[in-house]
Amino acid sequence: MSTQRHRVDFLVLGSGAAGLSYALQVAEFGSVAVITKADASESNTQYAQGGIAAVMDQSDSFENHVRDTLIAGAGLCDEQVVRTIVGEGPKEINRLIAEGASFSKQDGILHLGREGGHGKSRIVHAADTTGEVVEETLLDRVKSHPNIQVYQHHFALELITDHHLGQHVSKVRPDIKCFGAYVFNEKSAEVETWLAKSTMLATGGAGQVYLHTTNPGVATGDGVAMAYRAKARVANMEFVQFHPTSLFHEDARSFLISEAVRGEGAVLLNLDGHQFMEQYDSRKELAPRDIVARAIDDQLKTRGEQHVWLDISHKPADSILHHFPRIHARCMEVGIDITKDKIPVVPAAHYMCGGVFTDVNGQTSIERLLACGEVAYTGLHGANRLASNSLLEALVVGSRSAKLAAELITTSTWNEEIPDWDDSGTTHPAEWVLISHNKDELRRIMWDYVGIVRSNLRLERAARRIDLLYEETETFYRRSRVSTGLCELRNMIAVAYLVIRSASIRRESRGLHFITDYPDTVENERRVTLI
Ligand code: FAD
Ligand code: SIN
Repeated sequence: MSTQRHRVDFLVLGSGAAGLSYALQVAEFGSVAVITKADASESNTQYAQGGIAAVMDQSDSFENHVRDTLIAGAGLCDEQVVRTIVGEGPKEINRLIAEGASFSKQDGILHLGREGGHGKSRIVHAADTTGEVVEETLLDRVKSHPNIQVYQHHFALELITDHHLGQHVSKVRPDIKCFGAYVFNEKSAEVETWLAKSTMLATGGAGQVYLHTTNPGVATGDGVAMAYRAKARVANMEFVQFHPTSLFHEDARSFLISEAVRGEGAVLLNLDGHQFMEQYDSRKELAPRDIVARAIDDQLKTRGEQHVWLDISHKPADSILHHFPRIHARCMEVGIDITKDKIPVVPAAHYMCGGVFTDVNGQTSIERLLACGEVAYTGLHGANRLASNSLLEALVVGSRSAKLAAELITTSTWNEEIPDWDDSGTTHPAEWVLISHNKDELRRIMWDYVGIVRSNLRLERAARRIDLLYEETETFYRRSRVSTGLCELRNMIAVAYLVIRSASIRRESRGLHFITDYPDTVENERRVTLI
């Protein structure tokens, strides 16, 4: 079978808020291909509940939003980046509204929700289905744009760089270029060569690296792993955000109970019915989520219990139904009526604050490679992301990188010397049982040893076990035909390695990274972890 070669001006890997919003804007300047590994809407974006943080009210100010972001980021945010992204938030909200997104209103004006760490109500939302509204709005526009083609069930395997021209690239260099990507077409089971004048990495997060996560199955950290193998800079991977409240129920494990529920007055109780947050932080339920997640973790560990309660049943039922129709419906499916019952919740891996190092225009350390959204590290989140700042970042940086890419392609050409994918010598189809076993093992190791509270001993244990999984999986990969499952496993191992290595480098506790051997925050350690 002959390998397909494609040529496109703008190659976009991923179809969440970052990829789609970027695609719509570069489409004015050339041809666009959006490559996405599942159904186009399947993404972290699709499941976002709380909303998008932006200064949309006279009583609020950019200065307030900047301050809240810097406080949550625990000294590691890049203040200039924070100012730029916060400052351009309202423009992006208005752009989404112009594209057709319909957000919740009260008395004819946007209803602004409240979430932890925000000193003001500033969360633009569509009840508790904000992500779905954003995703569907952007996807509708993308699908009807004449310059954009969406390729579903196409898995981006590797970024194409100088390395594929036979040049040995052993470490980060300033002059590495990206020429596109090798993409596995799941239907034809063939690896295609996609040549591009510019490539946008918008592959989202990596929650699946942990046993318990709010993220859907597609969030396997492929983008960070591909960029790392291509010798891009990767930053701050130790900062994994655990959401305090995911539903604890065996039939609905990864379902998120939005922070907005606490914003509307829900309280956290231990199984004795005691409201415990006050003993950890004066902001109680509305403290930043690293503090709330650690408090719950502490309650569970010291009391030997499996979950805590989240209770909003003291609020009027019609208000609960109005604000949280999705959460109410999902909980009802498993027999919990949130207008009357307490909700059993536990923390779960939610968001990757680190990622592929970029500037505020999405430029990575590799030429012609941009990155945007959860896969990227811009400096906005620092050591802990403020709630609802990630969709904001995806949209603002998506727009800024579209401008950069439009300029970039005027001086780029397709590199025709790139060889097609060589799979000679790979005869065996991958055995699913080996892949699923290793995935499960990896996810448990990360949950048990590299979770909310870490220690040197646990990190060392995790590193040894991940090394073994790496050796075994690489051997297996070299002799097997490409499959999505096997490639995801490789990528998850790479992400796990990066998280453990970054966590081992940081000799302090800060924001989301808490390590018992170094419980204090140390001014000398206040720097970005770069790999
Ligand atoms: P995604 O939306 O995850 O999109 C990534 C895309 O890349 C997907 O289409 C995926 O299939 C594709 N992809 C991945 N790997 C490959 C590959 N190898 N080849 C091809 N395609 C690939 N943030 C907020 O700001 N506010 C919220 O209220 C909020 N709520 C959240 C609730 C939940 C349950 C979750 C999970 C997250 C929430 N977040 C929220 C975080 C936010 O949703 C994400 O950070 C944001 O949507 C990321 O957008 P993205 O475009 O970068 O990635
Ligand atoms: C939530 O709704 O609690 C999620 C918000 C976020 O992750 O930003």
